[in-house]
Amino acid sequence: MPGTEAILAEKGFLDYAIDPGMDLFAEIERLKKEKNAIILAHYYQDADIQDIADYIGDSLGLSQEAAKTGADVIVFAGVHFMAETAKILSPQKKVLLPDLKAGCSLADTCPPDQFKVFKEQHPGHTVIMYVNSTAEIKAMSDIVCTSTNAVAIVESLPKDEKIIFGPDKNLGRYVAKKTGRDLVLWDGACMVHEIFSREKIVKLKNRYPQAKLIAHPECEEPILKEADYIGSTTGLLKYTISSPDNEFIVATESGILHQMQKASPHKTFIPAPPDNNCACNDCPHMKRNTLEKLYLCMEYEQPKILLPEALMDQARKPIERMLEISAQKGL
Ligand code: 13P
Ligand code: SF4
Repeated sequence: MPGTEAILAEKGFLDYAIDPGMDLFAEIERLKKEKNAIILAHYYQDADIQDIADYIGDSLGLSQEAAKTGADVIVFAGVHFMAETAKILSPQKKVLLPDLKAGCSLADTCPPDQFKVFKEQHPGHTVIMYVNSTAEIKAMSDIVCTSTNAVAIVESLPKDEKIIFGPDKNLGRYVAKKTGRDLVLWDGACMVHEIFSREKIVKLKNRYPQAKLIAHPECEEPILKEADYIGSTTGLLKYTISSPDNEFIVATESGILHQMQKASPHKTFIPAPPDNNCACNDCPHMKRNTLEKLYLCMEYEQPKILLPEALMDQARKPIERMLEISAQKGL
């Protein structure tokens, strides 16, 4: 029989049989209390996971929560780089991820060896890296940012500061335009946000002339040009709540629609169509997490995030700088 490590390496989670009659919600609640565990979930998680989470948020909110929680165990319902960030901020805590293979195609576009060469080609630059990157990349950075604070972080630096921004070129281009800065961009992108079809969105806008197009800054420039509002997942959610409008075309991962619909049941949310024959815009990495895997990881306290101390110490500095600047700016 294969051991725990072998199962985790092959499957990413312990695929032990679960009684189909088990009330997973009740069991997860029990485990939360027994283990003093907190569930942090990103807005892109399945509705069931969002509903059982103690905190639901965007990447910035989740990092802030991970840094301040009093829980002994952080169960991170999100992707690998998010759980890594939580571990770096709370190294003494146990950080669990329901599926170790829940990665990020954007983070994968920036391998540390290639980024090292890129940095050497641009000496004298301050490195601002989007949180959607590995711990190794964060350790090579000066400041980390998220989509909520990227503009504020670039603006916190002197106007003549030379800046490398990565790994998302679409967010980088958006931040450069917003701040009027000339950023050196790494050529990475997110597979979910890259796929929206401008043509189909324009047709949808004609069909729903009252609808506002709201988009995440990871979307490509032609989509952002059409958008009535651009913001992080939290920014988009807040916009739909405070806006007097009743119809929204949402250009980001579809998980966020659950909170939008819950907060404004009388409003209509239309997922922006991708440029393929499928009508869904799910992140396959985020959606690897399921309620069953959440239960299993809490019951067996596996898989957990383990990182070398020295790497965590190095990666913590740019993350803490981000949290300091965000606090100063009231974000
Ligand atoms: P935010 O959580 O900053 O909105 O970013 C979205 C995302 O792509 C997370 O992977
Ligand atoms: Fe990565 Fe994009 Fe998925 Fe976010 S939505 S986890 S950036 S692949």
